[in-house]
Amino acid sequence: MTLSRRKALALIGGGTILAASGAAAGFLTTRTPREALRPWGLAGGYDDPRLNALSYALLAPNPHNLQPWKVSLQGSDRLRLWRDEEKELPATDPYDRQIMIGLGCFLEQMVLAAGAAGQAVDLTLFPEGEGGPVAEAHLTGGGRMDPLAAHIMARRSCKEPFEDRALPAALVEELAGMADIYTDAADVARLKTLTWEAWVVEVMTPKTMTESVDLMRFGKAEINANPDGIDLGGPFLESLMLAGVLSRAAQGDPSSRGFQEGVRMYEEMLHATPAYAVLTSKGNSREDQIAAGRNWLRLNLKTTALGLALHPVSQALQEYPEMAGHYAAAHAMLAAEGETVQMLGRLGYGPTTPRTPRWPLEAKLIDA
Ligand SMILES: Cc1cc2nc3c(=O)[nH]c(=O)nc-3n(C[C@H](O)[C@H](O)[C@H](O)COP(=O)(O)O)c2cc1C
Repeated sequence: MTLSRRKALALIGGGTILAASGAAAGFLTTRTPREALRPWGLAGGYDDPRLNALSYALLAPNPHNLQPWKVSLQGSDRLRLWRDEEKELPATDPYDRQIMIGLGCFLEQMVLAAGAAGQAVDLTLFPEGEGGPVAEAHLTGGGRMDPLAAHIMARRSCKEPFEDRALPAALVEELAGMADIYTDAADVARLKTLTWEAWVVEVMTPKTMTESVDLMRFGKAEINANPDGIDLGGPFLESLMLAGVLSRAAQGDPSSRGFQEGVRMYEEMLHATPAYAVLTSKGNSREDQIAAGRNWLRLNLKTTALGLALHPVSQALQEYPEMAGHYAAAHAMLAAEGETVQMLGRLGYGPTTPRTPRWPLEAKLIDA
């Protein structure tokens, strides 16, 4: 998560530090974590069509930006996608459901990027069963450009308040084939309450809150050293770190002013939402979860194409005891009996937001 200037100020609860930070402008303009953003610039620059497609795939959305993927190249035209067992969210994603969705996003973005470069992809999920690779891909030539591929570089998860502006019916109709879209005022109001209350459970439950705080990267040096997780960077946040206001300790302390301001800002953001997009599945197998990820990625590219912003808000879908009531409420409202809600996202008009960090492709290649 890259916090905006507005959110940064809110996090520390006022404008005093902003005024002070002006003096340090020279230092602050050097705060972009360029190394962590380099994979965005390298995308599409590889000769091997597999590496080329992978260089885009790794820009896919994924839970907490853990980037839970590893890839081995096989022969001259195949590759295998593996789940990186070290990347896990035991508190908020105990069954690795969201991790699998992230891997589905990766696969779909890989297929789209390969197609745009003229390569069709023959994909086999779990070729050796669930203990082995997540997928084997065979690039066969003869691929075609899907128009959604044009939006890979501009796609974001937009973690900002959205404009108070209804979605035009024509856009809702375009999206309706890809997800369940909720725009009715009563439904939207219920979902605002649900997502907000579920978010509060997550930040007030020690083990889930700690999981997030542990994944926070504070400032350029930490982000460049670990280009994943929740990135707290940029000039304003770094000035707050220098001032000792924003710290790992404060973020883990519900009594701190910074924590409380962050909660207030999240409440405002979650309520500034005119619509929601939901993906459900009849089953909840690993294949269903991968399919949900592929569909979410396509939806996110389509919203990008339509000038809309999309932001996953997964708290109410998480499978740990403290969340059980909100999980049940989300399923009662959004899914038929026995179905699983795989993704729930805010949908609307949002600002342009920065790219998020990624590990370079080379760090993700393994021999296997
Ligand atoms: C399965 C899944 C669940 C996610 N849940 C949340 C969430 O609850 N809150 C949130 O702010 N972002 C969520 N995200 C978005 C990720 O944080 C985001 O994809 C990642 O930080 C990379 O940023 P980007 O999508 O802008 O490239 C989720 C993404 C996926 C794929």
